Parts: sequence; structure tokens; C-alpha cells
Amino acid sequence: MSPNLDVGVPNIARIYDAMLGGKDNFAVDREAADRLLEVEPMSAMYARQHRAYIGRAVRMLAERGVRQFLDVGTGLPTMDNVHQIAHRHAPGSHVVYVDNDPAVCAHARALLADDPGTVAVIQEDLRNPERILDHRDTRRLIDFAEPVGILATGVLHFIPDADDPHRAISVLTEAMCSGGHLVVSHITDEEARRTRPADNKSGLEVFARSNAPMRPRNRVDIERFLDGLEPQDPGLVCITRWGEDDPPAISDDLRDVWLAAVARKP
Ligand SMILES: C[S@@+](CC[C@H](N)C(=O)[O-])C[C@H]1O[C@@H](n2cnc3c(N)ncnc32)[C@H](O)[C@@H]1O
Repeated sequence: MSPNLDVGVPNIARIYDAMLGGKDNFAVDREAADRLLEVEPMSAMYARQHRAYIGRAVRMLAERGVRQFLDVGTGLPTMDNVHQIAHRHAPGSHVVYVDNDPAVCAHARALLADDPGTVAVIQEDLRNPERILDHRDTRRLIDFAEPVGILATGVLHFIPDADDPHRAISVLTEAMCSGGHLVVSHITDEEARRTRPADNKSGLEVFARSNAPMRPRNRVDIERFLDGLEPQDPGLVCITRWGEDDPPAISDDLRDVWLAAVARKP
């Protein structure tokens, strides 16, 4: 059995689903989500705000004429998936979903069964960017001579430095032509370490027992994912503030734990 199908171990995709109020999770995931809420009471709000940020970013790309999207680290299907947002703002857009979790891919394929012409799901690891680019469904649906939106949201903090996630992102962004965009979000421990060292440690402990321990990065290391690209206004900011005129009030000590940016290839 794949480790990702082990229902005895909390799974990051299913914990996130539980935080979003989804049904595709098991008792062990709900217990992890409950523990996370205990030590990080803002987690559920952050999960919802994160999906809202993705919605704003995809809409912006669609409004800029992007018609193809590569979403790596897709997660379980949830409210307003990338292809639904894209199709709302730019009907007919092509979307390729990539996740390394077989259960996530199975759920995503079930959701998309009636849309094979514009949407595909690939089971692959972000650490193998060349395989993602070479996959027949990527080649079928994405024309890299046209602008593409690459999403790596809520996934890079599950990849350790030893596996070089910066290289993976740069291989993907090098494949984009001018006008392509990278949409990226990442947990940082910089602010939390300064303001709430004990709480942050407890949150990380929940993920330490999951199938993919979380590895927050500092702002500088997150900005390195944008190398060679032009960050769009307002730059790398808290997910609640990106593209939002009226962000929810969050106290300063809780504000900057989840950073987001959209960057354009010149
Ligand atoms: C928390 S979910 C994020 C879902 C969605 N991108 C979002 O931001 O709402 C993280 C997803 O990344 C996937 N994932 C984790 N590590 C990965 C890797 N190395 N390659 C591909 N997918 C990965 C997990 O299986 C999970 O579905």
C-alpha cells in the first residue's frame, strides 16, 4: 500500500481538506486538524483565506490573457478548484493538475471525468519537474510558446532543502515564455519565531507526525523562488492581503505566517 493511502497516518492533503470543512478525510486527519486548531486557532481561517487568494490570483491571470494553468500540489478537490475559477473567467482554459498523492489524483480524476478536453490530472512529484514537463498530458494541453500560469501553492514547504525545491521551480519557470506567471505561497516561521516561538513549534509538531513534515522558510528563501521573475504588486505579502482591498483584521503577531506572491516572466 502506498504510504499516502495509510489511513493510520495523518495526510497533509486530508488535514487541509478537514480544515476546509471537506469530507475526504479520516479520523486520524480530523484529530490532526483539531490539534492544529488548538495550537494555531487561526488555521481554519488561513486555509479558507488561502483558497480565496488562489481565486484572486487565477482570476488576475485570466484577465491578463493566460489560458493555460499548471497546478502542482493540487490537493483534494475542494471549493472552487483552479479549473472552475479559470473557466469562469476564461472559458475553455486548459488546466493540468499535478500531485504526488495517488488518492488526491483519484479524487481529482473523478471530479474531472466529464472534462478531459481541457483538464488533466498527472500523478507526479514536484521534485521531478522534467517529468512533469515531458508528460503526454502536459504536452497535449500546455503550449509553452504561449503564456502559462504555474501554481505552486501550499506545497513547497513540504519539500526539504535537500531535495532542492528551488531547482524544481526554476526548471518549470524556465519552460515558460514571456508573459507566463508563477503563483506561489509558502509558510514562513520568521514572524512566528519572533513573536510566538512556543505556538509555532506546536503547529509543526502536528505535521511532524504526518506523511510530509512541514518545513517553513524565511522570507529571503521564499523570495528565491521568484528569481528571474517580476513580482507583481503588492509583492510577497500575507495571503490575506494579496489582491485584497479589504483584508480581514489579523493581529500583528499572527499576520505573516503564510506568504504569497504572483510573479511574471519578463
Ligand atoms: C496543503 S495541499 C495544497 C493544495 C492546493 N495547492 C492549495 O494551495 O490549496 C498540498 C498538496 O501538495 C501535495 N504534495 C506534497 N508534496 C508534493 C510533491 N513533492 N510533489 C507533488 N505534490 C506534492 C500533497 O499531496 C497535497 O495534495
